[in-house]
Amino acid sequence: MNGLAFEIGGVRLENPLVMAPMAGITDRPFRLLVKEQGAALTVTEMVSAAGLCQNGAKTLKLLATGPWERPRAVQIFGANPAWMCEAAARVEAMGADIVDVNMGCPARKVVRHGSGAALLKDFSLIRDILTRVRKAIRVPLTVKTRCGWSPGRGDVLDLLPLLADCGVDALTIHGRYANQGFGGRADWDIISRVVENFPGPVIGNGDVTRPEHVLTLQKSTGCAGVMIGRGALGNPWIFSQSLALLQGRSFDSPGPADRLAVAKAHAGMMGEKVGRDRAVYMLRSVLMWYTKGLPGAAAFRGSINQTRDFDELMVMIDRYFDGLSAGEFPEAAAL
Ligand SMILES: Cc1cc2nc3c(=O)[nH]c(=O)nc-3n(C[C@H](O)[C@H](O)[C@H](O)COP(=O)(O)O)c2cc1C
Repeated sequence: MNGLAFEIGGVRLENPLVMAPMAGITDRPFRLLVKEQGAALTVTEMVSAAGLCQNGAKTLKLLATGPWERPRAVQIFGANPAWMCEAAARVEAMGADIVDVNMGCPARKVVRHGSGAALLKDFSLIRDILTRVRKAIRVPLTVKTRCGWSPGRGDVLDLLPLLADCGVDALTIHGRYANQGFGGRADWDIISRVVENFPGPVIGNGDVTRPEHVLTLQKSTGCAGVMIGRGALGNPWIFSQSLALLQGRSFDSPGPADRLAVAKAHAGMMGEKVGRDRAVYMLRSVLMWYTKGLPGAAAFRGSINQTRDFDELMVMIDRYFDGLSAGEFPEAAAL
C-alpha cells in the first residue's frame, strides 16, 4: 500500500480523493476527465432503483462507463426495499465494484417518495433496505448521507450503530442537514464525530473547493477519504493539485492550453453522448464552469449562447482560449 491508499471492504483506492456523485453532472465524460486528473473513485449520478428494475432506457444510460473506471461505484436511490435489493443485485451483475445507497438527497422530487434524505426519518426502513441489499450483493456496500434530516431529527450519530450492524463498509458524510439544502457552511465537526464513532472508513464531504481544503479536512477530522463536488465543476485539476499537495509536491495552475484541451475534450464527448445539436445547448453551462473567473468570460458566454452549430462552437472555444494564451480577450463581436 502506498501512504495514501485506503480500502473500502477490500476494494483498494489509490488515494483519498473521491468525485461526488452529482445528478445531471457526473456523467461518463465528466467522470473520465476527473479520473484522468487523479480521482481515485468516481460514482455514477444517482440511479433510480425503480427505473433500473423496470429497465428504463434513461436510467440504464446513467450506467455507461469504460475500462478506465475502476473501481466502479454506482449510487442507487429508492425507498422500496425489494426494488433496492434487486437494483443492487443488477448493478453488481453489470460490473459495479461498489454499491452506494443515497440517503442524503434533499430534492423534493426524491424526498416526496420517501427516498434520499427522507430515509433518515425512518431508521427501521433503513434497516430493512440495507439488510436486504447487503444480502443481495458481494461487493462492498456504502452509504452517502448528511448530518441528519434536521437538527434533532434523524441524527447521523444515532444511525451509526445500525449502519455498522447492517454491514455498511464505508460511509460518506456531507456536513449539512437535509433541511439546509446546500445553504450555510458544511459542519466538519460532525464529520470528526462520525469518524470517531463509525468502525469503517469515512469519506468527508462539503465545501472542499481548493486543494488545501483536502489536507485541512483530513487533518481536522481524521477522515480516510475526501469527496469533492462543486469544486470540481470546470476544474478537474483540483484532483491533480490535491494529489500533489498530499504527496508534498508543488503544482502549477492549468494554463490556457490545458484548459482548452480539457474543455474541448469535454465538448467532444458531450457531442458523442447526446448528439451535436443537443450538445450545443448543454455545453453552455459546462463552458460557463470552464471559463468562470477568466478574463473575457462574460463576452465569450454571450457569444456561445448565440450559436446553434457545434462546429462553430468548437471554433469559438479555440479562439477564446487562444486569446487567453496571447493575452488578448476578444470581444463577443469578434468571435
Ligand atoms: C447539482 C447537484 C447534484 C447532486 N447530485 C447528487 C447525487 O446524485 N447523489 C448524491 O449523493 N449527492 C448529490 N449531490 C450532492 C453532492 O454529492 C455533494 O454531497 C454536495 O454537493 C456537497 O459537496 P461539495 O460542497 O463539495 O459540492 C448533488 C449536488 C449538486 C450540487
